[in-house]
Amino acid sequence: MTLTLIRARLLSFLREPHSPDDTTSFRYIDDGALLIEGGMIRAMGEFSQINTPDATVIDHRPHLVMPGFIDTHLHFPQTQVIGCWAAELLDWLNDYTFPEETRYNDPALCARMASAFLDRLADHGTTTAVAYASVHAASADALFAEALSRDMRLITGKVMMDRNAPGSLRDTAQSGYDDTKALIARWHGRGRLSYAITPRFAITSTPDQLAAAQALAVEHPDCYIQTHLSENHAEIALSCQLYPDAVDYTDIYARYGLLGTKSLLGHAIHLSDREIGVLAEAGAKPVFCPTSNLFLGSGLFDDAKLRAAGLVNAIATDIGGGTSYSMLQTLAEGYKVLQLQRQRLHPFRAFHWITRGNAVALGLEHCIGTLDAGTEADFVILNARATPAMAQRMDRARGLADELFTLQVMGDDRAVVQTYIAGTPQKAC
Ligand code: GUN
Ligand code: ZN
Repeated sequence: MTLTLIRARLLSFLREPHSPDDTTSFRYIDDGALLIEGGMIRAMGEFSQINTPDATVIDHRPHLVMPGFIDTHLHFPQTQVIGCWAAELLDWLNDYTFPEETRYNDPALCARMASAFLDRLADHGTTTAVAYASVHAASADALFAEALSRDMRLITGKVMMDRNAPGSLRDTAQSGYDDTKALIARWHGRGRLSYAITPRFAITSTPDQLAAAQALAVEHPDCYIQTHLSENHAEIALSCQLYPDAVDYTDIYARYGLLGTKSLLGHAIHLSDREIGVLAEAGAKPVFCPTSNLFLGSGLFDDAKLRAAGLVNAIATDIGGGTSYSMLQTLAEGYKVLQLQRQRLHPFRAFHWITRGNAVALGLEHCIGTLDAGTEADFVILNARATPAMAQRMDRARGLADELFTLQVMGDDRAVVQTYIAGTPQKAC
């Protein structure tokens, strides 16, 4: 097998940093190298120690190598509704998003869009994604097939939705169960693919359908579960009206056994103390979607409060309620959302979050999210001087934290020089 040596400055986190001064939480190597073989990182360290005559050297100096970014919540069939003008969540869904998703009943369109979708992720440095497909099994098939052909780590599932949506976008409790079961059999555990059982949210699932999702979760405990929770006040009110026996929104999912350590809950903004306690007890993972929450005017995610209750929060773009594929821009907006609440997101914690932190939320830190030897060779090459404005700012940078913060505040796909998935470069240079 061929050996490749990636030479560059290198940054990888060992654990979550406690403060901007917590320099033992990461490994930074000024003249570093990664030895890649068969899609895996075989060694990481000083170039002088790892260099071997058998390897082909790719020299990315002076750029920075980091683990590939992990996006824990976004929607495959929403790439063409990014930035649609609407009042707020439910209007945006009804006026733009549901009509758009009806197009994904066409396998040829799904195949074309899957390729474009994964290209956009790679452009922006995202190497692992947790995506919602449309209600059509064909959309999940297309996305899985495209990810498999790229040897990409992908978690997805067809949405289950059997009410409160256009007829052509509704399944039934039974067909949603059957299609999901068949998709799990076809794709889960193949290559680097995993299935996420995906009841869209309480509003679009009848009690029968949530019971079907529960049955699937019991039958396939190694699958993820993804849904939306407590994003918007009108959504919360309607959910509680549709499930009058539940004490609150979180209780709807609790009653159907949908809260566990593999449950990813998009948004999780307007939660009571009781709900936070239930989520913490279950070990479920709230997902912070800052660009979406600002764009749809949904509210401010209270990261500190959830963390204080013991929750592990993930962070994500939520394309296409979210406005950027970039996890850098996601951090930029996340920083501002937390600023408004007097919560300080320092750059080391920010970059830990979109790499090892999201890997921990997915229970995958042994595979992805670091540059450790023995993990999958998903990494990005970053240039904090990618634009004239960034270069001008960087002339006054005082060190690594400043460089990271420049990337976070001013960076986007232009700052991603190259994205490697399983050791293979994805961006045309
Ligand atoms: N709630 C249910 N579906 C969606 C969706 O597609 N986007 C967002 N932001 N919230 C949702
Ligand atoms: Zn979403």
